Amino acid sequence: MLARHMSNVVQIQNVVKTGSRAASALVSGEPKQPSIKTDVPGPKSKKLLEELNSINQSGAVQLFADYNKSVGNYLVDVDGNEFLDAFTQISSLPLGYNNPEMLKVFNDESKLKALVNRPALGIFPGDYWPGKLKSVLLDVSPGLPNVTTMMCGSCSNENAYKAMFITYRKHQRGENVDFSELENTSCMINKPPGSPHLSLLSFHGGFHGRTLATLATTHSKAIHKLDIPSLDWPIARFPVYKYPLEENERENKAEDDRCLAQVEDLIETYNKKGVPVAGIVVEPIQSEGGDNEASPYFFSTITKNS
Ligand SMILES: Cc1ncc(COP(=O)(O)O)c(C=O)c1O
Repeated sequence: MLARHMSNVVQIQNVVKTGSRAASALVSGEPKQPSIKTDVPGPKSKKLLEELNSINQSGAVQLFADYNKSVGNYLVDVDGNEFLDAFTQISSLPLGYNNPEMLKVFNDESKLKALVNRPALGIFPGDYWPGKLKSVLLDVSPGLPNVTTMMCGSCSNENAYKAMFITYRKHQRGENVDFSELENTSCMINKPPGSPHLSLLSFHGGFHGRTLATLATTHSKAIHKLDIPSLDWPIARFPVYKYPLEENERENKAEDDRCLAQVEDLIETYNKKGVPVAGIVVEPIQSEGGDNEASPYFFSTITKNS
């Protein structure tokens, strides 16, 4: 992914160098335009890569950044090359490099103490925690009243998967029914009924992370999955449309219906196999697996029927 993004950065740099208008400044002090002074990666990046390679798997590293010099939309590398980063790395820096408002947030002792005394939040949260969840996260929540914080995309998805399975079993077992003795003992050796045979349905081309369960639902590139044992869970086709959309409405609706029919078939097949589908995981827009979007009709039909 980094490689793909980096090539985008370089391409954009070329576009801008050959005369297109530079993006408007996000943060003051940005370079006026990209500037490439060495090969990329340059000599300093190559030297650092050699050092890193000797202690760390670094196959995806493109260059070494200078985060003191990077500013706003511009990524500056250790060789002094200045790139217009139109993709904010992997959408992980949406407010740009060295955003002064972000720097101000951390130029505050209480924020530093929250970082330094990073608590086990599930057990000893700080007094500021409920207020922060409300003012920082729930304020921008799309109508969902609860929040669980996680450290990364994979662990967020991994925990969402667990929540789906727990909810599914709770519906089966009944709201206030306690775990049976057999469930308590069988889960300790990974056997049903404590560790039930259940599955999640995912889509070809999807990317949901690199941990074991999220990897079982990831189908974007073989390199993520090779050599890792996985789960036999159902995988449906994600719609592939003809463009422009306005001129291909009939064909694209037929494509949606084919994919939706496959979802239903797979759910039935896995039910019959004794591995019921407890949930569906899908990206609104696939990215790792291509730039693939599905229609509101596709998503609303899945939601309605699940
Ligand atoms: C759609 C999607 N899901 C999950 C992940 C996994 O996130 P992380 O790398 O933070 O574990 C990514 C990461 O790129 C992603 O793009």
